[in-house]
Amino acid sequence: MTRHFLELSDAGGDALAAMVGDAMERKAARIGWPKGRADADQPLKDRVLAMVFEKNSTRTRVSFDAAIRQLGGHALAMEAGTMQLGRGESIADTARVLSRMVDAIVIRTSDHAKIEELAAHASVPVINGLTDRSHPCQIVADLQTVVEHGKALPGLELAWLGDGNNVLNSIIEAAGLMKFNVRLGIPEGFDSDPAYIEQARSRGATITTHRDAHAAVAGADVVVTDTWVSMGQGDSAAKIAAMMPYQVNEALMAGAAPGALFLHCLPAHRGEEATDGVLDGAQSVIWDEAENRIHAQKSVLRWVFGQL
Ligand code: CP
Ligand code: NVA
Repeated sequence: MTRHFLELSDAGGDALAAMVGDAMERKAARIGWPKGRADADQPLKDRVLAMVFEKNSTRTRVSFDAAIRQLGGHALAMEAGTMQLGRGESIADTARVLSRMVDAIVIRTSDHAKIEELAAHASVPVINGLTDRSHPCQIVADLQTVVEHGKALPGLELAWLGDGNNVLNSIIEAAGLMKFNVRLGIPEGFDSDPAYIEQARSRGATITTHRDAHAAVAGADVVVTDTWVSMGQGDSAAKIAAMMPYQVNEALMAGAAPGALFLHCLPAHRGEEATDGVLDGAQSVIWDEAENRIHAQKSVLRWVFGQL
């Protein structure tokens, strides 16, 4: 069976824990090494990874490129608009052709149905590099970051502030799998997908919604936010105004637990969803989080190839 990684649940809680552990071990094993040097064991030697981008990317593109090289393989990045996909070749035919030429595919697209279609017709693993619905690869790195900063996942209290978006959906999915709790500080009208919340609750996570930002962060171990306007969404003054009370600033962070961490998947819109004081402050772990994309994406790759 071909292993696809479209959602965190495709792997499940045990595999997710294994990915975090593997990412931390591999990171520790190459401290100080040049980024282009392959890991000693090269577990994906000679494998080719194609990366297809329908939307902009810095971290996902660079981290998967570095990840497959460090595992001993090769990367090929393409903008969807310059492929025949961009002028009407079907997703199914693209999947069939890429499956004959490469060993795995990462795709960043808009509609989640497109990645499901690609996976349905691909005979090699397909990895979700972000859709409008979810961003599972990001959350593997986020979990690694939280754990390496000394916080256990079971029972963790995570506060999310701002928009109910794709990154949040994957955090909520992770909460169900890893048994942590999420407090949502989201203005009315911008709530996240109830299906993810229901799924997490059915797995034992506590997910609560607060219309007051201070109530959402009170005593939280981790505070997370993301852009108020995701790629492909329309910018609106009304949305920004609704989000403003949910900005993560120094006063809001002060209400979290002592030693609470601040995470942001980046790119940040400084002065909107978070202030410079928080992004650059002592509780921020955003640069570790960004670096961990490489280590975590290596574990995702190893998982789809059946090595974890
Ligand atoms: N966090 C994240 O996915 O960043 P990019 O959009 O730069 O890939
Ligand atoms: N929610 C953001 C995440 C970017 C990495 C977006 O979809 O644009």
